[in-house]
Amino acid sequence: MRLASRLATAMIGAARGLSRSSPRMSSLSSAPTVALNDGTSHPQIGFGTYKVGFIPASASAAVAGAEESGGEVATATDIVGDALDVGYRFLDCAQFYGNEVQVGEAIKTSKIPRSDLYLASKCWSDAIYDGPAAVRAQVERSLRDLNTEYLDLYLVHWPVPGKHVAAYLELEKCQAEGLVKSIGVSNYAVEDIEELLREASVVPAVNQIEFNPFLYRRKTLDYLTKKGIKIQAYRALRDGKAFDDPTINAVASRHGATPAQVLGAWCVAKGAIYMPKSTRRERMVENADVFDLAAALDADDFSRLDALTTPEAIAAYKALYEKCVVRDTPLDESDPGIKRDITAG
Ligand SMILES: NC(=O)c1ccc[n+]([C@@H]2O[C@H](COP(=O)([O-])OP(=O)(O)OC[C@H]3O[C@@H](n4cnc5c(N)ncnc54)[C@H](OP(=O)(O)O)[C@@H]3O)[C@@H](O)[C@H]2O)c1
Repeated sequence: MRLASRLATAMIGAARGLSRSSPRMSSLSSAPTVALNDGTSHPQIGFGTYKVGFIPASASAAVAGAEESGGEVATATDIVGDALDVGYRFLDCAQFYGNEVQVGEAIKTSKIPRSDLYLASKCWSDAIYDGPAAVRAQVERSLRDLNTEYLDLYLVHWPVPGKHVAAYLELEKCQAEGLVKSIGVSNYAVEDIEELLREASVVPAVNQIEFNPFLYRRKTLDYLTKKGIKIQAYRALRDGKAFDDPTINAVASRHGATPAQVLGAWCVAKGAIYMPKSTRRERMVENADVFDLAAALDADDFSRLDALTTPEAIAAYKALYEKCVVRDTPLDESDPGIKRDITAG
């Protein structure tokens, strides 16, 4: 990192540290947990670490980035430190996010006992493609980077065609050895899970998928519920791109809440595990305050929110799935192994 960037980062880190004197959020300390199918329990709310702490490569880019973001340049260590201080205890991590070392530093600095944390990570598609030894190496690297002896949960990030089942079978071995307590999948369609279950001994504990009122895939949710697989919802805030939606705003006004809180409340009310990401402390606090609102949403709210998913959104999801299952592998988008007729709804 260049000097100007390092200085800016250090100053922001110091300022963020000083601001950690406000009271903790009681809503996080009393937040519900979700029972997983392997007998463990999972906090229903956590903090997403994707795109947390991106540091521009050059000092000039750092200055431009700082101006665009209102003057803030912060590392993943600072941001995750804030999330832990606000009260988040479940951290959703991944090798792909490129910041597990910094997340590990934040955990160490926080001095929060390991047993109070719930740490999840995922294996990226290049390793899934390379096979079981590469998958195990990623598990071991996440353990090192996050500075922990075990992970609470570890997932296959994408169902890479022809490769994802072997990756999952290796995770079963890691689980038997105690390196990871629970195992699961991410971005799996119903058909991927069916393929997996033909060979797996352990039913995945979770499927981490995009889940929000704009991508409410009821058939998939019904299938997962029947199999005892919980949804970990990513992009529950629709990546910050739905806050102007009139329905979201109408429900927010009705309950004196913010649009982000409506999306979070909808997510937890559906029984999903909620893991919003924000680089801003005040938003971390806002996002955690959703459980009372979830209980207050009524049938009228749900009928309006549940109707926001369009056929176009489902088609866009299918196209993205076909592209992403081969990302960062030697396979291309015409590969015959890609499932073209998945249960998208
Ligand atoms: N398995 C997968 O393939 C996959 C894919 C995507 C994500 N994930 C996981 O899911 C987590 C969450 O998803 P996500 O990060 O993609 O998106 P998200 O949580 O839906 O949305 C994050 C965006 O919303 C903004 N935001 C957050 N709280 C806000 C608030 N109260 N008011 C206004 N804006 C707010 C954030 O901006 P600021 O940061 O500027 O506040 C950011 O731009 C990720 O961090 C990652 O852990 C997994």
